[in-house]
Amino acid sequence: MTTDDPWNPERYARFAAERRLPFDDLTALLAPLRVGGRVLDLGCGAGELTAELHARLGAGETVGVDSSPAMLEKAARHAGAGLRFVRGDAAGFAEGPWDLVFSNAALHWVEDHEALLPRLAALLAPGGQLAVQVPCNDRHPSHALARAVAAEAPFRELLGGAARESPVLAPERYAALLFALGFTARRVRLEVYGHALASRDEVVEWVRGTTLTEYERRLPPARWPEFLARYRARLAAALPDERPFLYTFRRLLLWGRR
Ligand SMILES: C[S@@+](CC[C@H](N)C(=O)[O-])C[C@H]1O[C@@H](n2cnc3c(N)ncnc32)[C@H](O)[C@@H]1O
Repeated sequence: MTTDDPWNPERYARFAAERRLPFDDLTALLAPLRVGGRVLDLGCGAGELTAELHARLGAGETVGVDSSPAMLEKAARHAGAGLRFVRGDAAGFAEGPWDLVFSNAALHWVEDHEALLPRLAALLAPGGQLAVQVPCNDRHPSHALARAVAAEAPFRELLGGAARESPVLAPERYAALLFALGFTARRVRLEVYGHALASRDEVVEWVRGTTLTEYERRLPPARWPEFLARYRARLAAALPDERPFLYTFRRLLLWGRR
């Protein structure tokens, strides 16, 4: 049996200070919202940043959408004054229109960005903005070794096939998609964040909060510790034992206004 909801809000929150940097960079790209504007936050997680976005923009209505019941349970405490949270799938969310469709560190869980971008654009009101931040750190050992372990016996079989590849496209492709979709103002930015962690062991804790959740969800619970132990050993062999350890993390920030 596998767990349906491997998201652990406490584990994810452990690196909240580091994780909020790209959120700040993404919100800095936004143009002011019209008075009473409507905001959609896809993959809102535990809702702190959704609440901050709602307040910072002075939005009339903000809806946070997430597929994880554990995250939404945490988010509920921020609801009120025009802000609400609903359970839903960012891939198929079709209600609109919105003055801002926002998503921080979530859409890398949604497949086929060639099809996703047109769907997100279609949710926008005239003059609406799209703002998305996605990690693209797949070449870092923290991500590459998770895929490598998942491809080995016995995990490959237990996972029912090959490891998941990131659906995140090249920066140039997002620039072309935003242009083709009629965004008159556009920004596509690749940023390398450098997080000073206590040691390389902290990288495992970081990745457990996000990337590894997919493997935890798909593996039988009894086999998960074995996966984690093998991943931990591989990572320790690949990363230098420096304290503090600089964890470099590439992220793409996309913004467009129609
Ligand atoms: C890394 S967290 C980011 C949370 C929040 N946006 C933040 O910046 O703190 C990713 C979130 O995306 C959600 N998520 C993943 N796939 C999703 C999907 N298809 N639809 C809706 N939410 C999804 C997860 O449940 C999780 O809460």
